[in-house]
Amino acid sequence: MDFQNKHILLGVTGGIAAYKAVDFLRLLKKAGANVNVIMTGSAQKLVGKTTFEVLSENPVLSDLFSDTQSSVKHIDLATRADAAIIAPATANTIAKLAHGIADDALSTTLLAVTCPVMICPSMNTDMYQNIRVQRNLDILEKDGCHILDPDSGVLACKTVGAGRLPDPGFIFDRVEAMLTKKDLDGKKILVSAGPTVEAIDPVRFVSNHSSGKMGYAIARAAEKRGALVTLVSGPVSLEGPVWVERVDVITCEEMADQMLTRLKRSDIIIKVAAVADYKPVDPKISKIKKKDNNKDLSILMTQNPDILKLIGEKKTNDQFLVGFAAETDDLEKNALMKMQKKNLDMIAANIVGSKDSGFKADTNKVKLFFKDGSSFDIPLMEKGRVADILLDHIIEKMG
Ligand code: PMT
Repeated sequence: MDFQNKHILLGVTGGIAAYKAVDFLRLLKKAGANVNVIMTGSAQKLVGKTTFEVLSENPVLSDLFSDTQSSVKHIDLATRADAAIIAPATANTIAKLAHGIADDALSTTLLAVTCPVMICPSMNTDMYQNIRVQRNLDILEKDGCHILDPDSGVLACKTVGAGRLPDPGFIFDRVEAMLTKKDLDGKKILVSAGPTVEAIDPVRFVSNHSSGKMGYAIARAAEKRGALVTLVSGPVSLEGPVWVERVDVITCEEMADQMLTRLKRSDIIIKVAAVADYKPVDPKISKIKKKDNNKDLSILMTQNPDILKLIGEKKTNDQFLVGFAAETDDLEKNALMKMQKKNLDMIAANIVGSKDSGFKADTNKVKLFFKDGSSFDIPLMEKGRVADILLDHIIEKMG
């Protein structure tokens, strides 16, 4: 989802969480969006208009009849908007929007927008749960607005319960999802990511440098495009993508179990995880002690199951199977061999061992090979963008 050249309307109403709208605005600006802020009178009592003006680099609309704004400014803004987000949205503004009342700059502008609208309610728990507020939110949802449920926790009024405005990063993530085309709507996608870890003893293990970034980026991108995603993840320090089922595993055998259990109900399987090919035959229960008379130590290893190969043997013609190939040399030859041996529809090959591509990096350079003999080069770019291009190709090949 590219925010460059996108016009976003940010409505700020008089909730105590209005200060969080400042950080949300910064995220939109950082992503390249052109943001116009509209504030209600009570919002201005909580956060200064100047803060939003400086950070948005645009005048804030708060009064339809002020001398400095054109009399149809709100219609200009509404017509140009690609998305409108009300964060925080008070019970008062929610009620006005639900009933088509237009008595200030924000409610009047929102009657004129035709773009997707997201409403982020934030208020005291009892107010939020009040039947009238809930009824108004239902009306708005039925009208096609996206309602972002508030978080639960300790509120400004010291109540503990639902009503807290979610973190700006989360709101941003959901706005991205709202604006993303749902070309994977309802597709069930199974992704594996991260490394597997095989114990040598209780303190040592065999693993690799996978951070999970590439697999998590694919899971995140697929969810935004409407897919129902399950992410089987080895141990990583990343937060699970929003609204993705995450299944944590440690060893190759655990990953194999979790993937194979879910195989039948998956339309697309993307195996990004870096699986340990070998594991110690006899992992010790106690720590292996250093012995002064023993300079060398041998650990007998045995092969792990090849999960991707097992999936390739079981997959049906309706399922699309994607593998990754991490290579240090002979990229094309090795990738093609793996694609054939493991019965894949597509393989994404990347050279590992460089700073800006493969393991750990935020960017990746990938070459896609397809069963029909075609291929596609993805130049070095953010893993999030690589994920989207890879999904574009899967959609195209699946027809
Ligand atoms: O996690 P990051 O830090 O973002 O790094 C991303 C990545 C480099 C890990 C990723 O882009 C990548 O290349 N993943 C595949 C790593 C790998 O194990 O490659 P391979 O060539 O050894 O294996 C080929 C395929 O077989 C892979 O899809 C792998 O998941 C699968 N495999 C391998 C061994 C095994 N026992 N079972 C498997 O399923």
